[in-house]
Amino acid sequence: MSGYIYETRPESLLRITNEERAKAFIDDQVKALKEQIGDKKVLLALSGGVDSSVVAALLIKAIGKQLTCVHVNHGLLRKGESEQVIKVFREELGANLIYVDAVDRFLDALAGVSDPEQKRKIIGSLFIDVFAEEAEKLEDIKFLGQGTIYPDILESQGVKAHHNVGGLPEKFGFELVEPVKFLYKDEVRVVGKALGLPDNMVYRQPFPGPGLGVRCVGAITRDRLESLREADAIVREEIDKLQFKPWQYFCIIPDMQSTGIKDGKRYMGWAVVIRAINTTDAVTATVPALSFQTLCNIRDRIIKTVPGVNRVLWDISEKPVATIEWE
Ligand code: XMP
Repeated sequence: MSGYIYETRPESLLRITNEERAKAFIDDQVKALKEQIGDKKVLLALSGGVDSSVVAALLIKAIGKQLTCVHVNHGLLRKGESEQVIKVFREELGANLIYVDAVDRFLDALAGVSDPEQKRKIIGSLFIDVFAEEAEKLEDIKFLGQGTIYPDILESQGVKAHHNVGGLPEKFGFELVEPVKFLYKDEVRVVGKALGLPDNMVYRQPFPGPGLGVRCVGAITRDRLESLREADAIVREEIDKLQFKPWQYFCIIPDMQSTGIKDGKRYMGWAVVIRAINTTDAVTATVPALSFQTLCNIRDRIIKTVPGVNRVLWDISEKPVATIEWE
């Protein structure tokens, strides 16, 4: 399976539906990657998403320390995500991992920007800048690893949808290494599982590239973003306890305040919104019935522990006409 030359999925590649097929794919890929890369070095932007994590694990298996992973923390990740990337890849898999704390740069650049498209643009282009700066510091890198998957090729001519490193290859002259480019998402997950990645990484919900940035509606402020991150962790923890989980569930913090009352005094606080949807393709979405008990558990924890939040709402809008995300 080495050296794919066609941009259509090879017919010989069986659907990877079980561990046995995943292991065969991994063996083939490790061999192919060793052949392609030889003794050269590879750079990979590792967000902690399923695709980049699986590519990282495959590359570590094939070439070990010849791989350098760069994890950029832009401050818009969910609670515990950066820590998990460091734990799994640096501590458990022994990867060369550069952790870049770019939180202040991103939040400073986003300060006062309320237009959603503008926010996305700033996050995307700053990500490339930060990643490029790291790439410049490294010597002898020949290849750039990418978590391109087959739908990216089918839907956007091979440009990783919403992926922000697309500008790099031309600038640096890197050759691409894309070991999962003919796999569908469900297959990438089976491969990730066979590689021993943790379940919460392998079965992660879709998460926008601009991360919590599109869920902290309007101009992002640090306090509102922190409250969103905490509330989001609570929503996910409480819904994770259910036997039948929705397809995607998270929380939003709108750019509005409403009256609350504390110690006999009125004050203005934030509202957070619970969003849980079911879908097969994210093109249309329905809203599953969360039990009142689940909603109350979420409400109680958020109101008790999340600073600045005095109201919890449940978004029961379907797609269409509402989109899944708020921005
Ligand atoms: P919407 O809001 O368009 O979302 O109904 C459909 C699905 O796409 C995800 N989404 C994104 N994913 N970058 C991504 O990688 C983005 O900018 C982005 N915006 C939306 C969303 O979470 C949902 O699953």
